[in-house]
Amino acid sequence: MTDTAFNTVQASGSLRKRLMITLIGGTAILALILFFIVRGYAAQIAQNGQDSILEASVSSILDAAILRDGSVEIDFPYASLSMLDTLEDDRVFYAIYQDDELLSGYATLPRPQSVTDRAAFETLVFQETPVRLASASRVLIGASERTEISVVVGQTQDALSGTLNSISRNVAAFGAGFFALVSLLSFWATATTINPLQRLANAVKRRGPQDLRPFDKAVPVEMVPLVSSLNTLMGRLDQSLTQSEDFIAEAAHRVRTPLATVRSYAETTLVRVTKSENRAALRSMIRAIDESSRAAGQLLDHAMITFRADHLDRQKIELVALVQELVTRLEPIAQMKDVELQLTAPLPVEISGDPILIQNAVRNIIDNALKYSPSDAVIIITVDAQDRPKIQVCDQGPGFPPDEIATLTNRFARGNNAKDIVGSGLGLTIAKDVVAAHDGTLEIFNHDKGGACAVLSF
Ligand SMILES: Nc1ncnc2c1ncn2[C@@H]1O[C@H](COP(=O)(O)OP(=O)(O)OP(=O)(O)O)[C@@H](O)[C@H]1O
Ligand SMILES: [Mg+2]
Repeated sequence: MTDTAFNTVQASGSLRKRLMITLIGGTAILALILFFIVRGYAAQIAQNGQDSILEASVSSILDAAILRDGSVEIDFPYASLSMLDTLEDDRVFYAIYQDDELLSGYATLPRPQSVTDRAAFETLVFQETPVRLASASRVLIGASERTEISVVVGQTQDALSGTLNSISRNVAAFGAGFFALVSLLSFWATATTINPLQRLANAVKRRGPQDLRPFDKAVPVEMVPLVSSLNTLMGRLDQSLTQSEDFIAEAAHRVRTPLATVRSYAETTLVRVTKSENRAALRSMIRAIDESSRAAGQLLDHAMITFRADHLDRQKIELVALVQELVTRLEPIAQMKDVELQLTAPLPVEISGDPILIQNAVRNIIDNALKYSPSDAVIIITVDAQDRPKIQVCDQGPGFPPDEIATLTNRFARGNNAKDIVGSGLGLTIAKDVVAAHDGTLEIFNHDKGGACAVLSF
């Protein structure tokens, strides 16, 4: 899996945002509900307070009413009305009736009708302001008569609404504080909820490409299904990777072994056959076998490289030692052609990469130099780390065909100079893919003094 595979994952919303919106939105609604409940409750308590003073005022007036010699006398104390004094200087109104006939006060003051024998209350607009009214009545019984006295006392509500406003302000301030606190808490709650997910993602990211062990760290219950499917997936991946690697090795073996057998039969037969046309046939048979064997080998190498490049297993590699080992291994082939392999490497060069892949790439480049350059020549291999770690291989042959140089690294591309030489056109492709997997580049060009040069830089 490359990074681009991860980048194509489509994001739909964010868990963090969703959680935050739910928590903060829920808190806002809760704070509003709380505000209205508290305000309603406070309004009721304040109203009850006003009502009980009004009721006390009404009853103190009723208490002052006496029946003397058949007529009603009311000499109510100053306190009856002054008990209604407020800081806001609320206005007070009253009316006293004897059997529906006004004895004193405002004739226009409405009279709330009491259903029970308790005081009746009502809020009305009187003289263009809301007024709270309380009324009660009492029956006075004299020697020969009975009469009913009704009293209405009203008060404007300026002090009451002042109190209510200040309560509302306080409750609103508390609500805002509560909201801010819960918003902070929701940041914290979201972070602690998201953290295990983040940790899991980081653990996946930190793993090496070859590391397909299951996750064994404890995760929250809700994440168990995710992690266990991830583990199952990795198990399957591990299995199929191992299978593919085995398959490639097995396939290479199965193809090359019978070809080698056929080739050795053909060669021994060639020694015995004398007829020239038969010899020619055998020679082209051997050539065809070499071609197929090379093609099979290169195809399998290419498959192996594609596979390993996808799961790049980076290790510390010292390039000089790696190239030196290759040179030693290719020395016999070079000697057969009387070609000298000259390695120049002033200092060790370290890179991180897959040694198997890099070896394969360099071998293909040296192999080309050996194949396409004449006998008695020198192949100069340079390893250095000037601006970038690089390996340069230059030969003294005819060089790359100039008109084809741009396409030679394509798959199966062979130049017109390769007609008599066994090959499959995959060597440069392999080298290019290997450096690309290491974020490097392959450059091929012809030297001024003749000869082909290939530079792998990492
Ligand atoms: N050192 C070189 N000198 C001249 N031509 C070269 C050199 N190296 C490569 N070429 C040209 O580039 C072509 C592609 O090289 P490449 O290594 O990809 O394939 P190949 O050598 O033909 O086959 P193989 O897959 O067996 O390596 C060759 O066919 C040849 O024409
Ligand atoms: Mg080649």
